[in-house]
Amino acid sequence: MAERLLFPKGFLWGAATASYQIEGAYDENGKGESIWDRFSHTPGKVLNGDTGDVACDHYHRYVEDIELMKKLGLLAYRFSVSWPRVYPLGRGKVNKAGLEFYDRLVDRLMDAEIIPFATLYHWDLPQALQDVGGWANRDVAYYFRDYATTVGEALGDRVHYWITHNEPWVTAVLGYQIGNHAPGIRDQATSVRAAHHLLLSHGEAVHALRQVGGKEARVGITLNLTSAYPATESQEDAAAAKRADTFSNRWFLDPVFKGQYPQDWLGMIGELASNLEMGDLPVIASPIDFLGVNYYSRQVVRADPTTPRGFSGVLVRDAEYTDMNWEIYPRGLYDLLTRLHRDYGGPEMHITENGAAFEDSIGPDGKVRDAQRIAYLRAHFIQAHQAIQDGVKLRGYFVWSLMDNFEWAYGYSKRFGMVYVDYETLKRIPKESARWYHEVIKENGPEP
Ligand code: FCB
Repeated sequence: MAERLLFPKGFLWGAATASYQIEGAYDENGKGESIWDRFSHTPGKVLNGDTGDVACDHYHRYVEDIELMKKLGLLAYRFSVSWPRVYPLGRGKVNKAGLEFYDRLVDRLMDAEIIPFATLYHWDLPQALQDVGGWANRDVAYYFRDYATTVGEALGDRVHYWITHNEPWVTAVLGYQIGNHAPGIRDQATSVRAAHHLLLSHGEAVHALRQVGGKEARVGITLNLTSAYPATESQEDAAAAKRADTFSNRWFLDPVFKGQYPQDWLGMIGELASNLEMGDLPVIASPIDFLGVNYYSRQVVRADPTTPRGFSGVLVRDAEYTDMNWEIYPRGLYDLLTRLHRDYGGPEMHITENGAAFEDSIGPDGKVRDAQRIAYLRAHFIQAHQAIQDGVKLRGYFVWSLMDNFEWAYGYSKRFGMVYVDYETLKRIPKESARWYHEVIKENGPEP
């Protein structure tokens, strides 16, 4: 048998989840309403009328879930804190009971010797803040800073890895422009403003977390990134791929790493650019300790003058797709990581999400055989390994997800977990991929 591909010593193998997707207990112990509570309770917004009211009931089952993580052999675990659990109205009075949940969770993780990575915002904004405009309101950036301080003070003695935001692009575009995510707004001007305030709040939170977390705090941001390729060799398509890259990646990368918005992005938004407070850019570009990379698929685009940004996506024939209809393209991860290394000063990085949804089911023998997920993960691990060989400072890898959960507008119809969740009984059943991942972690690398 060929030898395993070994990752660097101390490489952090982990798994990721998010509060609204797993916790449930949506109105317990003083928790306030979030925009996802409001959105999922609005008929027609989420497939099959699914909600996160119960989800995986992780709020009550976190002890069992950490035992699962331990069995899996996880070295690190990425979770998110629900802002309205901590501040039911987003600001003002802290809900002690809410904060205590994360306190207990972190204690258990410490007992299990699993390193916590805490994300402060994974999309569940307190509804009370949406009522004053949500991220389109500049003040919300400062409420976020105060919330970061509160959580940092409570957990910072044990949590040293912080992620301010998860995929602010998705918040801004799906939440405020397309409207298929909470809060369901469809307005480009609002979206551009929301994106700016998300970035500002990130910079403010970096300072806040450093202040309360001291020297040990390692602070980063997680972006959804994808490599963009032209559909043909024409010059027009090459230019379209550049525009797609600007829109999908550089819109957020450049402010965070370079303290400027890309010129061509400013061109795309036209007069909306004049509303942006460029004086915020130095705060937005506050130095971070790592970049969190969420990678699922690539983009193949062609020039398309009929669209506002001049490009549109092309379906690649003869490719393999996951249950999300996302093309499986592992090489895109290598291209992305090496490019980030080249263009953004060789930052330390963690893959904070990578994984795949497939139609899993429990076999007659009680097993969930998810060979496709194993193949997907293995192929991506190999590309990450190659990127490290070529100098990329990749420090950890978090599989999305620990367990099946509420997949936003798709409800429970998409299964991303290494652990199967039976939503009738809430029983957890580790899939074959969980056993396989256990082996990878133990050996510090996959079979080639
Ligand atoms: C990412 C989200 C995560 C999950 C995966 C599939 O965009 O951050 O919560 O839904 O996609």
